Amino acid sequence: MTAHVRLPHPLPVDDATHRAFLTDVVAGLSADPKSIPPKYFYDERGSQLFEAITRTPEYYPTRTETGILTARAAEIAAFIPSDAALVEFGAGALTKVRILLGAAPVHAFVPVDISETFLLGQAARLSREIPGLQVLPVVADVMAAFPLPAEIAARPKVGFFPGSTIGNFEPHEATAFLRHAGTLLGPGARLILGVDLVKDPDVLVAAYNDAAGVTAEFNLNLLRRINRELGANFDLGAFWHRAVYNRELHRIEMHLASKTRQRVRVDGRCFEFRRGETIHTENSYKYTPELFRTLAAGAGWRVATTWTDPQAWFAVHALTLD
Ligand code: AVI
Repeated sequence: MTAHVRLPHPLPVDDATHRAFLTDVVAGLSADPKSIPPKYFYDERGSQLFEAITRTPEYYPTRTETGILTARAAEIAAFIPSDAALVEFGAGALTKVRILLGAAPVHAFVPVDISETFLLGQAARLSREIPGLQVLPVVADVMAAFPLPAEIAARPKVGFFPGSTIGNFEPHEATAFLRHAGTLLGPGARLILGVDLVKDPDVLVAAYNDAAGVTAEFNLNLLRRINRELGANFDLGAFWHRAVYNRELHRIEMHLASKTRQRVRVDGRCFEFRRGETIHTENSYKYTPELFRTLAAGAGWRVATTWTDPQAWFAVHALTLD
C-alpha cells in the first residue's frame, strides 16, 4: 500500500452533490476495470464542450435528429393530442422542442432538468417567445420520482426525450427510465424519443473521435473537474482519449487511457494505473429499430411510428403506453 497524502479540500465537504461525486469517483477508481459515470462530464465547461461536439462535422446525431424533427414536424404534431401537456426530460437549451411547439397545439410545456438556474432562465425565455403557452419548469433528476405540476393533471400527456440520451443508460437503466416515464405520465400517455441507430462502425467511431479533438477535450475535462472539485492530482497530459465501437454490445465506449504507469491521488487516496489501463467514462448504446421496440415493450410501451433520416442514421420513435 502506498502512503495516503491528504490534499486540501477545495470545496465544503457538507455539500451533498460534492459528497456523491467523491463517493462515485472513489468507488469507480477502486473497481477493476476502473470507471466513472458519464453524468459527471457536465460541469459548465463540459456542457460547453458537449455543445461544441454537436457542431463538429463528424458528430451527426444532433443535426440528423433536428433534420428529422423539422422534416416530419407535421406528422409528429399529429401524434400529440390537442391541448396536451408536453413534458421534456433533461430539457437543456430547449432547442429541439421549439420545433414541436411550432407545429403542435400544445397547451402546457413542462421542461424537467436538474440544473435549476439554467432551466429557469430557458423557461422564462420560452414563455416570452410563446405567450399563450403555459410553461411549468420542474427541477428534478429525470430518473428520480417527482410530481408533475397539478395544473396539467387533467390534460393528455406526451413525454419528449431527444438526443439519444437514453443511449447513455445501461439497457436495464433505459428500461427503468421508460417504466418510470410511463408511471409519471400515466394512462393514455405518449412518448417521443430520439435514438441513435446501429450503423457502419467507421461512422460511429469518427463521431466520437472528431479530428479537432473536441471529444478528447470533453473526455479529459472529467479529470480536470475531479482535480478541481475533489482535490486530485491527475496529470491530463498523462492520459489519452480512446473511443471504440463494441460490436457485440452495439455501443461506443469512451475511455481515458493511462500513457504510463502512474499513481494519482484523489482526496488523500492513492490509485495506481498500469501503462495502457483505462478509466471507462461512457457508453453510448446504438439501437436498431427492432432492438428498441423490444426494449420499449419490456417497459410497457409500444412503438407506433418511427421516423428516420434518408441514411437511416438516427430514429425518432413515437410510443404509446400499452
Ligand atoms: C449526450 N449523449 C447522447 C452523447 C452521446 O452521443 O452519447 C454524449 C457524447 N459523448 C461523446 N460525444 C457525445
